[in-house]
Amino acid sequence: MLGVVPAPSYSRRRFLALAGAGSAGLALASCGSSGKKATPVPATGAEVVAAEQARRRSGAVVRDFSLVAAPMMADLGGGLNVATWGYGGRLPGSELRVKAGEVVRAKFTNQLPEATTIHWHGISLRNDMDGVPGMTQEVVAPHGTFDYEFTAPDPGTYWLHPHVGLHLDRGLYAPLIVDDPAEPGRYDREYVVVLDDWTDGIGQAPDAALEDLKAGRGPHAEHRKGGGPHSDALNSAGGDVSYPLFLINGRQPGAPAEFEARKGERIRFRIINAAADTPFRVALAGHQMTVTHADGFPVVPVTVDTMMIAMAERYDVTVTIGGDGVFPLMAIAEAKADEAMAIVRSGAGAVPDSGVRPPELNGKMLQRADLVAAESVRLPEGRPDRTYKIALGGGGDGYIWTLNGKPHGKNKPLEVRQGERIRLDFENTTTMFHPMHLHGHTFQVINPGGGAGARKDTTIVRPKEPVSVEFVADNPGQWMVHCHNNYHQMGGMMLTMSYVTDRALTSAERASPLGLVCDWLSPTVG
Ligand code: C2O
Ligand code: CU
Repeated sequence: MLGVVPAPSYSRRRFLALAGAGSAGLALASCGSSGKKATPVPATGAEVVAAEQARRRSGAVVRDFSLVAAPMMADLGGGLNVATWGYGGRLPGSELRVKAGEVVRAKFTNQLPEATTIHWHGISLRNDMDGVPGMTQEVVAPHGTFDYEFTAPDPGTYWLHPHVGLHLDRGLYAPLIVDDPAEPGRYDREYVVVLDDWTDGIGQAPDAALEDLKAGRGPHAEHRKGGGPHSDALNSAGGDVSYPLFLINGRQPGAPAEFEARKGERIRFRIINAAADTPFRVALAGHQMTVTHADGFPVVPVTVDTMMIAMAERYDVTVTIGGDGVFPLMAIAEAKADEAMAIVRSGAGAVPDSGVRPPELNGKMLQRADLVAAESVRLPEGRPDRTYKIALGGGGDGYIWTLNGKPHGKNKPLEVRQGERIRLDFENTTTMFHPMHLHGHTFQVINPGGGAGARKDTTIVRPKEPVSVEFVADNPGQWMVHCHNNYHQMGGMMLTMSYVTDRALTSAERASPLGLVCDWLSPTVG
């Protein structure tokens, strides 16, 4: 008895009401009506249950959490309190921490005035817990609840956020740390560092900003002229949205979070970029950083002065504190001429002005090719069974962003079969960079020259600089591939990756619409 929760049953009627489809026939017909074609594996399908069973060890420890999304006042420091939406009244939401192989059981309650879901970013979890509305679950209506339960198989730094609308650009995010029971522990203490761009409650509301972008307006025109202070600026257009503030762990730079340390200590920082529209250039004054993990997975350690971290990426770095003092940890909003700041304090001293720009910011910067997956997590050599090109486009009239020429719902799902090795070739035809994310899997980036790069779930794709990734399709279900700029995502920059099977679905599976609709409706539905 493995104690795997049975696949939940869903009401077809309620789903169709949500999706706005007129009849079941409509949904199924869109998958190809010959009846001979391979069928998408439903989110609640037998393959999904079997994959979870394989992950779950008998006697696995179950960790219970309760998560409440609700309107709240966030104290950003310096007397600034803003109205927003968050988890458990905290910003960021309280960290969830488990050990690899343990089961996360989170009772979620939605006290927001809008329907929402939770997505567990980066975790290879069972498909029906992935939080994509209309695809892996129904939205959680206001006052509704949902019980998330899944095995967390791989250690690492992850996070959680909603997968509906622009909820992520409010205060709805929290770290999810999966400890490694075999962690060599070559550090004295660790801190989680969450970066964010902030407008909710002080500047333009996220939904209004998106309306402006769709109407061809937008507050970011001046940024576009500037181009930023750095020659290799990632974000030469300055992003799409103007943010009055940038935060580290919910604090504005004038009232920064402080991390205590002692001279000579080795500190592990788990850096998470929870921003919707902002990549950050990160450096710790007076120190170099040794990068040990990318998106949760270990890399061959590499020491740098600074690094760029795009939306949804995570880097774990180790720093040896070089003296007694006050060291600003800077996160410069790339090409936005503004910053987030925290303080590493190992001695007495005043907090510096946030205008400080330590020289490390212009020192040795982490490059994609510097990152190589640690031996223990490297994909075995192999040739892809299937290669898909994903062309990134759009951003013009109407703020429509596309993958393979069409916005989500109109573009064709990528079909994969369980066990195949898949290669994705990203090609960016736009003038902006896009952090591309795959749900439910950790791919391996292919470095220039073909070498094994880092294992990641989100990778920066710059204009005119193709990026290829490979992974083994070992987690059946229906998964999203999308840009993690929340505004681009809402502009349509998403695609479905659909596991298919030749077997006949059971009647229970047929009765569950989740994972069966090919022309997914936008997750903004509801
Ligand atoms: Cu953080 Cu669909 O992703
Ligand atoms: Cu994008």
